[in-house]
Amino acid sequence: MVASPASELVVESHAGPYRVQFVDDGFGRLAAVADGAMHVLLDEKVGALYADMLTSVRERATVIEIDAGEPAKSLDRFPAYVEELIAQGFRRDHVLVAVGGGVLQDITCFLAAVLMRGVAWRFFPTTLLAQADSCIGSKSSINVGPIKNVLGTFTPPAEVIVDTGVLATLDDVDFRSGIGEILKVHAIEGPSSFDHVASNYAALRTNRGVLVETIRHSLDIKRRIIELDEFDRGPRNVMNYGHSFGHAIESATDFAVPHGIAVSIGMDMANYVAADLGVSTPAQAERMHPTLAANYAGSENAEVPFDRFLSALSSDKKNVGRRLRLVLPDREGTISVVERDDDGEFRRACERFLNEGRV
Ligand SMILES: NC(=O)c1ccc[n+]([C@@H]2O[C@H](COP(=O)([O-])OP(=O)(O)OC[C@H]3O[C@@H](n4cnc5c(N)ncnc54)[C@H](O)[C@@H]3O)[C@@H](O)[C@H]2O)c1
Ligand SMILES: [Zn+2]
Repeated sequence: MVASPASELVVESHAGPYRVQFVDDGFGRLAAVADGAMHVLLDEKVGALYADMLTSVRERATVIEIDAGEPAKSLDRFPAYVEELIAQGFRRDHVLVAVGGGVLQDITCFLAAVLMRGVAWRFFPTTLLAQADSCIGSKSSINVGPIKNVLGTFTPPAEVIVDTGVLATLDDVDFRSGIGEILKVHAIEGPSSFDHVASNYAALRTNRGVLVETIRHSLDIKRRIIELDEFDRGPRNVMNYGHSFGHAIESATDFAVPHGIAVSIGMDMANYVAADLGVSTPAQAERMHPTLAANYAGSENAEVPFDRFLSALSSDKKNVGRRLRLVLPDREGTISVVERDDDGEFRRACERFLNEGRV
């Protein structure tokens, strides 16, 4: 890792290092570098909430406003984005800038990979999930029809600017969705790291210093893993903790449960199932349950049709042959990748969790 001042983090990638800068006046920073070669893809909601702060950006750069639902990152929307960029006069040496959460990131990152065979992009993440997790790691993920995140690339940004001030306007559920990913990386770092962030759970909302420090630490944990395995061929697989179950829950509920909330349920489920199968212990599951359950409060009774859950789980792209590839804790609480038969014992443990384990 390259040495860097406390207000930034430097991430190594196949395309070279890039900086994540922690700043107080993110929109001002954006305006300072805005010019005719900058094309902003802006979350419509952020555009409305921060209209005043974006005035000078709009005067200097071109802007495409996007309603940040899942359909916006569907492949069939891309011709319109490309046509609009070309109409704006986009050239190969111009730069795309994403302003928004994971949806705007995925759209912009994917466009940056393929537009004119690859152009530069910068990211100004405005959700906690994007600031604490998805803004580094190079991945873009695009939906095709009902198939989520099936197309993608590894396309690192040129720079990331994190201003936690914009998180003040996030909905409670979107804030908790980001906390879900924060809990995930801390659990991966180890039990004491998870316990530490769990003890700060309430302070994440009330104390900006704690929030900034926690975001920075989350990114640093992720940085270490992606620098080892940017292309997700080995060590990075562990970042899928809570995700195989979480994605299956998202899919079985038609995405009624937001990503980081589903991941929180998914981690609780992974812990429960691992204890049930004897891979881990009930004590490990119980240690983490109160924090995870607090984080998915409101979804503890969400209806998860079991047949749809199982079929989504068995079609997970990380599976090997007919065996499931899961990320589970062991008896010491260490999170690792394990392969497991999709047998009756496993399915009964999953069903028990969904029926009784989420309370
Ligand atoms: N590429 C990756 O590495 C990666 C990783 C994780 C998730 N994702 C993708 O990211 C998406 C989820 O990301 P997300 O949770 O950031 O979702 P999102 O981009 O959909 O944002 C969530 C909601 O917050 C609103 N919003 C954004 N910033 C706001 C602000 N400052 N104030 C108020 N509201 C604001 C948005 O308009 C939206 O309604 C999913 O599509 C997921 O697949 C990608
Ligand atoms: Zn995730």
